[in-house]
Amino acid sequence: MDEKRVAFITGGTTGIGREIAITLAKSGFNIAVNSIKAPDETDDLKSVIEKEGVKYYFTLGDVSNYEDSEKMVKEVIENFGRIDVLVNNAGITKDNLLMRMKKEDFDAVINVNLVGTFNVTKNVVPYMMKQRYGRIISMASVVGVAGNAGQANYAASKAGIIGFTKSLAKELASRNILANAIAPGYIQTAMTGALSDKVKEEIQKQIPLGRLGETKDVAKLVKFLASEDSSYITGQVIHVDGGMVI
Ligand SMILES: NC(=O)c1ccc[n+]([C@@H]2O[C@H](COP(=O)([O-])OP(=O)(O)OC[C@H]3O[C@@H](n4cnc5c(N)ncnc54)[C@H](O)[C@@H]3O)[C@@H](O)[C@H]2O)c1
Repeated sequence: MDEKRVAFITGGTTGIGREIAITLAKSGFNIAVNSIKAPDETDDLKSVIEKEGVKYYFTLGDVSNYEDSEKMVKEVIENFGRIDVLVNNAGITKDNLLMRMKKEDFDAVINVNLVGTFNVTKNVVPYMMKQRYGRIISMASVVGVAGNAGQANYAASKAGIIGFTKSLAKELASRNILANAIAPGYIQTAMTGALSDKVKEEIQKQIPLGRLGETKDVAKLVKFLASEDSSYITGQVIHVDGGMVI
């Protein structure tokens, strides 16, 4: 069995998740990545990861579906024998003001972002408990801390992830399993790319560091939280937002 540590990143083929997968590969982790969409043949993530001298495994499935989540975790364990770091990164938005928000758009965002985080974590934790080692890193958002008009569903899902993370930190610390949440501010990805330049300029004005975030700003924190250097940190919500929410 390969002795390398294993990181499993949900929603890991695009945006922030992809950057995390590549960054952890560079740190020597074997990488398992999930998405609800199979990567097309032009996607070079596998070769980019393998170039770092580590193994890559892709598993297809919907984190909001419990059976899919169970199946994906089993597949990763069958392939790599362990999961040391889980990054709950898969997420969606379906923004609208409450008055216009459809019940199915509220449910969809809660189901992917919050229930999905539960579904995958629930299936990974028994293996981490047996190993007496684990790092659970979940992608929240500054919106889950501060709220945002037009994002009641998304903010609720991310606030839920924060409560979930703090509870896990208390439950699992005795088994040497650490749980932390990351609250990114505005990070430039496909999720945020649809906004107009004018809206982006307005957002930039609210950021003390004066620039929008990049995926590597988040990935560098994940690298730290997945490393031995963070072994006395659990139950925290760490902002990567250029000071947007203080
Ligand atoms: N971009 C930002 O500014 C920002 C800010 C705060 C938090 N976040 C969070 O960071 C995470 C990554 O966001 P991103 O900006 O890279 O967006 P993204 O859309 O590029 O990444 C999300 C990934 O999740 C996958 N996914 C969606 N639904 C899924 C499901 N049901 N099952 C499995 N995979 C699924 C998508 O296919 C995609 O690969 C999300 O949780 C998002 O809420 C992003």
